[in-house]
Amino acid sequence: MLSRISLGSAQFGLDYGIANSTGKVKKSELRLIFKKALHCGINTIDTAIDYEDSESNIGDLKPIKFNIVTKLPKVPSNCINIGDWVKDNVSNSLKKLNVPSLYGILLHRPFDIKKYKDLYNELNKIKESGAVKKIGISIYSPSELDDLLPTYQFDLIQTPLNIFDRRIVDSGWLRRLSDLGIEIHTRSCFLQGLLLLKKHERPLFFDRWSNIFDKWDSFLLESNNDPVGVCLKYPLSFKSINRVIIGVDGYKQFNQILHNVDNINELSTPNIKANDYKLINPSEWVFK
Ligand SMILES: NC(=O)c1ccc[n+]([C@@H]2O[C@H](COP(=O)([O-])OP(=O)(O)OC[C@H]3O[C@@H](n4cnc5c(N)ncnc54)[C@H](OP(=O)(O)O)[C@@H]3O)[C@@H](O)[C@H]2O)c1
Repeated sequence: MLSRISLGSAQFGLDYGIANSTGKVKKSELRLIFKKALHCGINTIDTAIDYEDSESNIGDLKPIKFNIVTKLPKVPSNCINIGDWVKDNVSNSLKKLNVPSLYGILLHRPFDIKKYKDLYNELNKIKESGAVKKIGISIYSPSELDDLLPTYQFDLIQTPLNIFDRRIVDSGWLRRLSDLGIEIHTRSCFLQGLLLLKKHERPLFFDRWSNIFDKWDSFLLESNNDPVGVCLKYPLSFKSINRVIIGVDGYKQFNQILHNVDNINELSTPNIKANDYKLINPSEWVFK
C-alpha cells in the first residue's frame, strides 16, 4: 500500500495551505521525511517548477533513490523557440533536483499543447533522449481529457480526487485511462487539509456548503474513524490508481499518514460528493 503513496512537494517550496499553521516544511524535517519514506517503500516525489524553491530543496537532499515527477509551467507569451524552452526547463530541473533523469514531466497548463503546435513533439523528443521516462499532463477537470486525449498520447495523467471531488470516477475517465494503460496519479486527497479541519476550524466561506459538511462530520462521529485514514482510503481503494500524492506540512503529519495507511482496511468511506466547482477547486476559495 505505501509504495502507492507519492510525496507531494508544494509545501517544500511554498508557504501554503488552508490548514497549514507552520509554513514551509523545514529542511531538518524534510530530511527525516525522505529517510522514513524510503525506509517504508515510498519512492515517488511530485514537484513542479512553479513550486518556488521546492526542486532545489529536494535536490539538496540528493534524492537519487526517488522517482521524481515535475511539471513545466505555463509557456511564457514571449517564448521564441518551444524546443529550447522545453530543453532548458528540463535541464534546469535536473540540475536543481540533483538527478540524472526524471520519472515524469507533466504540463502544468495542459491547454498549452493546443496553443503551441511543437510542444507535444518536443516532449516526445525529451522522452526519446532518455532525460524523462514518461510525459503527461496535470489536469484540474476531466473535461480537459475530453478535449486533449483523442489527439495526444500521454503516459501519465495527474488529477484531483477526494471524498468530495469524484469527477474523475463519475465521468468514466478513471476507467478509460486505466483501459488505455495510462499511469494515473491523484492529488488533493485531503482537499488541501479542508477535510481534516474540525467544524469550528473551517473558515466561514464554507458555511454555504454546510449540508455537505454536516454529512461528513456525522459520518466521522458515527464511524469513529480518523479523517486522515478515510481520506487516504478513498483514492487508494481504486486499484487502477498508481500513486496517491499526499501533502504534509511536517514530519508529524507524515507519520500520521503512515500510521493511518497501516490501519486502512478497517475503515469505511462515506458516499458524500460535491459537484460545486467553488468548493472542490481550492483556487476558487475566497477568504476576506
Ligand atoms: N493531521 C493533519 O492535520 C494533516 C495531515 C496531512 C495533511 N494535512 C494537510 O493537508 C495538506 C495537503 O493536502 P492534500 O494532500 O489534499 O493536497 P492539496 O494541497 O489539496 O493538493 C496539493 C496541490 O495543491 C496545489 N497547490 C500548490 N500551491 C498552491 C497554492 N498556492 N494555492 C492553491 N493550491 C496550490 C498543487 O496543485 P497544482 O500544482 O496543480 O496547483 C498541489 O499539488 C497539508 O498541507 C496539510 O495542511 C493535515
